[in-house]
Amino acid sequence: MTHSFSPAKSRLISAFSGPAKGSPPIWLMRQAGRYLAEYRKVRTEAGSFLDLCYTPKLAMEVALQPLRRFDLDAAILFSDILVIPDGLGQTVRFDEGVGPVLMRLEKTGDFARLSLGRMERHLEPVYETVSLLRDALPAETALIGFSGAPWTLATYMMEGRSSREFQIAKYWAYARPDDFDRLIGVLVEAVALHLSAQVKAGANVLQIFDTWAGVFDDWGFSNWVEKPIAAVIRKVRAKHPEIPILVFARGAGQHLDGLAARIDADGLALDWAVPLAWGRDVLQKQTLIQGNLDPGLLRLGGVAMERAVSAIVDGWRKGRFIFNLGHGILPDTPPQHVEAMVRLIRSEACVTT
Ligand code: CP3
Repeated sequence: MTHSFSPAKSRLISAFSGPAKGSPPIWLMRQAGRYLAEYRKVRTEAGSFLDLCYTPKLAMEVALQPLRRFDLDAAILFSDILVIPDGLGQTVRFDEGVGPVLMRLEKTGDFARLSLGRMERHLEPVYETVSLLRDALPAETALIGFSGAPWTLATYMMEGRSSREFQIAKYWAYARPDDFDRLIGVLVEAVALHLSAQVKAGANVLQIFDTWAGVFDDWGFSNWVEKPIAAVIRKVRAKHPEIPILVFARGAGQHLDGLAARIDADGLALDWAVPLAWGRDVLQKQTLIQGNLDPGLLRLGGVAMERAVSAIVDGWRKGRFIFNLGHGILPDTPPQHVEAMVRLIRSEACVTT
């Protein structure tokens, strides 16, 4: 059955224009994944994690799983930020217990081999997943498309895996900025194409993940977080002026003040270290804010989780707000804790009249 999306019925979309009446919209970063037994089953059937990402029927299935269990306002495309390097021709593997492994880009000659045309062809199954998902979702449920931001993608592409210190990526960012800018330029194009293709296939909202935005000084933040994301957003808006765009600049701290206007985002996803009062008095006056429960507290559950959830909803529900975590759900989170959290947010205690 084909359901078309109705922005007017969507709690998530309405939140961009003003505070929600009733309970706030909710979705959760990494809401699909290993903490759900039904995910682990499909994941085993699929073989590798990337096979799952590139098989539209299975990727659609795992994206829908959390919505069957919990009262959520959005589905997020099931994919990964690293499908971009994989599509550009820098093959990605996910190793058990290690995470992503990429053949490192070592010299500028390696940048030249990255191919946008190859990426667009390679990622066809991802856009097919978006389209299947949009058809499967009820009219009031928004579909979120996403991408990694150029800087975060570049860290994986230069380091070859998850990093703590970013020694190699920072060497390029600070010691060879002109060469690094060539890679970032390719990634700006790639991210803009990838996001636009998702909107064309049926995504209703976009989120850009800059997971490693918190490692910079002023110069680095301005050049490698702000400028590339602003360029991506400009390109996406040229094709799709109406699409709401959220940006998750994790660990960005006070760089978040004024950021939405500088990059032309419609909202900021906030990590849990952002103080509630500062979020309300400074950021929420500038833009919609989304967040920011510590996923560790969701894993813990009980009164510690309930206290933190109530504080967030109390603090932020009077302005433009979407409830979320401050980072992705941890794989060993009991699903009953997610259920209890959503029930609490939907309860009288968290409703605005
Ligand atoms: O439900 C959703 O939110 C949609 C799917 C989604 C995944 N990854 C699925 C996934 C999204 C939005 C992402 C984003 C992502 N991927 C980010 C940015 C957000 C963040 O969490 O900081 C980053 C940095 C990645 C890169 C990545 N993908 C790493 C480092 C890993 C390995 C660590 C881990 O959790 O295993 C992944 C794998 C990954 N991406 C899994 C899932 C469900 C687990 C793979 C498995 O099933 O084995």
